[in-house]
Amino acid sequence: MLLLESSFSLFIGRFHPVFVHLPIGFLLLGALMEFFNSRVRSKNMDAAILFTFKLGAASAVIAAFMGWLLAEQGGYNESHLFWHKWLGIGVGILSIVALFIKGEWLNLPKVLYKTLLGIIVVLLMATGHFGGVMTHGATYLTEYSPFGETKKVAEQQEFNNPDSLIVYRDIIQPMLEKRCYECHNADKANGGLQMHTTELLSKGGDGGPVLVNGKAMDSELFERITKDPISKKFMPTGGKTHLGYEEVKLIGWWINEGAAYEKSIAEMNVPKEVKTILENSYKVSLVKKSYVETASVEPLPADRMESLTTLGFTGAPLASGNNFLDIRYNKLGATPSAADIEKLLVAKEQITWLNLANQNITDAMLAKIAELPNLTRLQIQQNPITDAGIANLEKLQNLETLNLYGTQVTDAALTSIEKLPNLKKLFLWQTQVTPEGAEGLKAKLPKLVIVMGQSVTSKS
Ligand code: HEC
Repeated sequence: MLLLESSFSLFIGRFHPVFVHLPIGFLLLGALMEFFNSRVRSKNMDAAILFTFKLGAASAVIAAFMGWLLAEQGGYNESHLFWHKWLGIGVGILSIVALFIKGEWLNLPKVLYKTLLGIIVVLLMATGHFGGVMTHGATYLTEYSPFGETKKVAEQQEFNNPDSLIVYRDIIQPMLEKRCYECHNADKANGGLQMHTTELLSKGGDGGPVLVNGKAMDSELFERITKDPISKKFMPTGGKTHLGYEEVKLIGWWINEGAAYEKSIAEMNVPKEVKTILENSYKVSLVKKSYVETASVEPLPADRMESLTTLGFTGAPLASGNNFLDIRYNKLGATPSAADIEKLLVAKEQITWLNLANQNITDAMLAKIAELPNLTRLQIQQNPITDAGIANLEKLQNLETLNLYGTQVTDAALTSIEKLPNLKKLFLWQTQVTPEGAEGLKAKLPKLVIVMGQSVTSKS
């Protein structure tokens, strides 16, 4: 037992993953040679097979012993280890039996001998399989399979919007995966700690929870990565690549912010130093992008643009390389008819800015305009619009700017407007909306800027 507990035994044990390839090679080769030997018999071949089986049996026994030593250090998944160990020992025993038959120290019918070789090959594969699962995890082979579920590459780099960046999933977990999972996973729970699921990471290791939400300094995990690297307790152990200064900083920040698994960066406090790290090393943009910067549409076919131009609309792409359109009505001495407005739907997806100021727009027309799902800016000031028309606009869930100056809307319209979650700017001067009404709306949409005064022009 002394041998089993010494670090020397671990030293020997760690050669197991390398050494196992010898018995695999020898035994497969022996079985193959025997297979071909039964077609073309030769004395030399028999001698060679015997020699190969001697090497195979000896190396299988040594590999099994080394594996036993390695398993003593613990931390492996119990059931995988059980199968790997006993299948491996099975290979060792059966290869000795095969050797004895080949050497004619033991007599068995030919068929049984052949069956035995077949069983050895199958056991070799099964043993190897469980060994692989223990070191690489169960999904190692299939992870990048073209048939199964693969890691979505696109998912990894959508860092351009702080709302879509989940701090744990996109920043912290990949670090742990790279530097820690090796010893803290489904099959290997060093220190009793498994990190590959959030539940288990929260649960902690032999010493209890390793994360104290909101307190990096009291968290075992943080303590382990900030110790003096020569300490035995420093993580990662075993001379593995350390976490960098910035990585440690980010983990500390994440724990201090509550060690939440689902929070986006927009929901967290970002101190200056963390902000610099995220922007420089992770190319994270902390400025929230507008809808048109994150969504994209197909370009509007030329003939459809043409049909709108004939009606008196003019349009231009929002920016080069962006197919969203900025549309306005521009026919001298005329205003659009209800039919003209309905025609806008040929560019239903593309229209994102729409300027129909002072064009005799009615409530009924707003019902059509509300069918433009990507509308982010709507200028309908100085039109005979009432609360009834505004009720239609509830559908415009991406609307960010709405100009209603010089319309007939009252406080009653605000119940519809409060249902526009992305609204950032609302122009209400020269309407019937009261300051109290505006304040009530502001309480419901705190980020909304409401312009009531005369000082702001209608240009928005
Ligand atoms: C090479 C293997 C290895 C790697 C890689 C590794 N650890 Fe460990 N870890 C261990 C071993 C072995 C133990 C148990 C001995 C001990 O507590 O020091 C342990 C224990 C721990 C514990 C204490 C668990 C408890 O409750 O006792 C924490 C926390 C920990 N590791 C965190 C980490 C973190 C964080 C990383 C990645 C930065 C990491 N480990 C990487 C091997 C490793």
